[in-house]
Amino acid sequence: MNFKTISVLLAFITAVCAQAPTNQYELKDASNKTCLRADMALSIQVNYTKTNDGSVTFEWELPAHNLTNPGAVTVGGSCEVNGTAQLTLSIPPASTSVSMTFTMEGQDTYLSGVELSYTEDPAIFVNTTTPRHFENHLGGDMFDNNVTVSKTELEVFEAPSGQSYKCNNQGSLALDDIGAMLKLANVQVQAFGFNETFGEVTECAADATTPAPGNTTTPASNATTPASNATTPAVTTMMPTTPVPPTPEPPTQNNYTLTGGDGKVCLMALMALQIEANYTKTDGKTATAKWNVPANPAVSGTCGNNTSTLELKYDGNDSTVMITFTKSGASGLLQDDGKFMASAITLVYTETSARFPDTNNTGTVRTVANTNLTAFEGSVGSSYKCMAEQDVSLTGDVMLIATDVQVQPFGLSDNNFDTAEECPADNEISNIVPIAVGCALAGLVVIVLIAYLIGRRKSHKGYQQV
Ligand SMILES: *[C@@H]1O[C@H](CO)[C@@H](O)[C@H](O)[C@H]1NC(C)=O
Ligand SMILES: *[C@@H]1O[C@H](CO)[C@@H](O)[C@H](O)[C@H]1NC(C)=O
Ligand SMILES: *[C@@H]1O[C@H](CO)[C@@H](O)[C@H](O)[C@H]1NC(C)=O
Ligand SMILES: *[C@@H]1O[C@H](CO)[C@@H](O)[C@H](O)[C@H]1NC(C)=O
Ligand SMILES: *[C@@H]1O[C@H](CO)[C@@H](O)[C@H](O)[C@H]1NC(C)=O
Ligand SMILES: *[C@@H]1O[C@H](CO)[C@@H](O)[C@H](O)[C@H]1NC(C)=O
Ligand SMILES: *[C@@H]1O[C@H](CO)[C@@H](O)[C@H](O)[C@H]1NC(C)=O
Ligand SMILES: *[C@@H]1O[C@H](CO)[C@@H](O)[C@H](O)[C@H]1NC(C)=O
Ligand SMILES: *[C@@H]1O[C@H](CO)[C@@H](O)[C@H](O)[C@H]1NC(C)=O
Ligand SMILES: *[C@@H]1O[C@H](CO)[C@@H](O)[C@H](O)[C@H]1NC(C)=O
Ligand SMILES: *[C@@H]1O[C@H](CO)[C@@H](O)[C@H](O)[C@H]1NC(C)=O
Ligand SMILES: *[C@@H]1O[C@H](CO)[C@@H](O)[C@H](O)[C@H]1NC(C)=O
Repeated sequence: MNFKTISVLLAFITAVCAQAPTNQYELKDASNKTCLRADMALSIQVNYTKTNDGSVTFEWELPAHNLTNPGAVTVGGSCEVNGTAQLTLSIPPASTSVSMTFTMEGQDTYLSGVELSYTEDPAIFVNTTTPRHFENHLGGDMFDNNVTVSKTELEVFEAPSGQSYKCNNQGSLALDDIGAMLKLANVQVQAFGFNETFGEVTECAADATTPAPGNTTTPASNATTPASNATTPAVTTMMPTTPVPPTPEPPTQNNYTLTGGDGKVCLMALMALQIEANYTKTDGKTATAKWNVPANPAVSGTCGNNTSTLELKYDGNDSTVMITFTKSGASGLLQDDGKFMASAITLVYTETSARFPDTNNTGTVRTVANTNLTAFEGSVGSSYKCMAEQDVSLTGDVMLIATDVQVQPFGLSDNNFDTAEECPADNEISNIVPIAVGCALAGLVVIVLIAYLIGRRKSHKGYQQV
């Protein structure tokens, strides 16, 4: 096991084992007095169907929230009216919303219903089979993927009126039969008769019998409730906390080709593209969004003698990557040294709440360009090849990240790449692997030698004893 394997394992273990932070939600009444308080570590888990993988599990958390750091969660709902109170936690602009209904019956209070809604954004729920398309007012494709799951007739978190229900044990509350659930831990709630602070505590059975925190039992009060024997299924995909911009999977290399009027390939580019953009959130802080140019954008462009353009459109033509390649002699300013390069890159994208959680500029369309670039530089008559990551800055806030690149924008002979000119970074990388292999072999040799020496000494003793 090498260091990388260990760190990947550790990261995995950390991601899988880490519990959501315990947050403190307070609902206030008209006179600004708290009427409902819920402390809990809450995460949401759902299953969705992937085109390539069937049903997969997805989990995310609401962001950290407490009174001193209200974060991005909006706490809403209604204080008690006729025996019902409601707490609604939502992440504006409403990518996730969890609503809990509490009921008082006689002197008994309990959580009677939960409604969860979220947007199954294909940028986050990668390869989902369920994106429904419709055309927006510009004629572009839009996704309409709002999912609402609700569970009624619950009777959990039971406590006498005026008291709080407390359960430190981790547990889950199933919302449907296809995998949607709330995962809860460190719960303490009181929806009725709350006066400044939590009332007397009613502890869940799990806490009372198993004081050790972290034991996987459930907060539900008895075996007839839906959550009581729900075990936590293995989480195959961890999603980052929702308002933190989603981290995309490593992008895959795509083949973009343009064909000239003569039917021959005149530009060919293999590349995996990602975009990283800094943006301003509603709280004025800066966050970084990162996403992949998806696998099958619409490819268009033009091939010229001195200038060729490759244009990729995705998000239903709402987003664009345009790369202009020029020969060094083309501008008349540069000396013609027989080189080509990407001299301009323009990106168009929209600050959607899915890619830019909590953005202060929802829906704003950005056009970002750098028209004074030298990237992907190669010799005319050859192709440029670079497997290593290249970050091409367009502005102080936006960059295009290219990996696994091979491109030839001019004069392909025979519809295919000519000789590849490799970037220096690739040569550095290719040295590292033999070094690592060499070190491992050296280590192995040393171990075998030691083992051999020990073995020899032991067998010597053996012979002497005989
Ligand atoms: C409610 O209380 C908070 C601080 O506890 C205060 O900042 C806010 O102005 C109050 N709002 C009203 C409507 O009284
Ligand atoms: C509130 O949340 C912030 C950020 O998660 C954390 O640093 C701080 O300790 C929390 N404060 C309390 C009183 O829990
Ligand atoms: C609460 O109950 C009273 C009496 O039954 C009724 O008059 C009132 O409209 C109810 N209020 C709400 C908000 O349902
Ligand atoms: C989907 O949910 C979002 C956020 O709540 C909302 O803005 C949007 O209008 C919803 N779309 C449809 C078609 O209901
Ligand atoms: C999405 O689907 C494509 C094509 O089936 C596949 O190559 C890719 O690995 C999938 N991505 C994920 C994250 O499942
Ligand atoms: C949810 O997905 C996981 C992983 O694919 C699967 O093991 C589990 O059976 C699914 N749960 C339901 C209720 O379909
Ligand atoms: C709330 O608590 C204070 C002091 O603990 C008490 O004086 C007051 O009567 C209580 N209010 C209600 C509505 O119970
Ligand atoms: C967890 O609970 C189970 C049964 O409730 C018990 O057998 C087990 O010992 C507990 N584990 C820990 C670490 O407390
Ligand atoms: C579970 O709770 C319900 C409601 O409090 C009660 O009627 C029922 O008898 C309980 N069942 C068990 C097995 O404790
Ligand atoms: C959960 O409990 C119900 C009733 O108590 C039972 O029918 C069901 O088989 C249990 N499920 C599991 C996975 O143990
Ligand atoms: C890229 O696609 C073009 C057109 O489909 C094809 O002719 C070419 O061989 C592909 N290149 C590579 C390296 O796969
Ligand atoms: C975003 O801002 C951070 C901090 O200022 C900076 O290090 C980073 O390079 C920026 N990202 C982009 C894509 O410009």
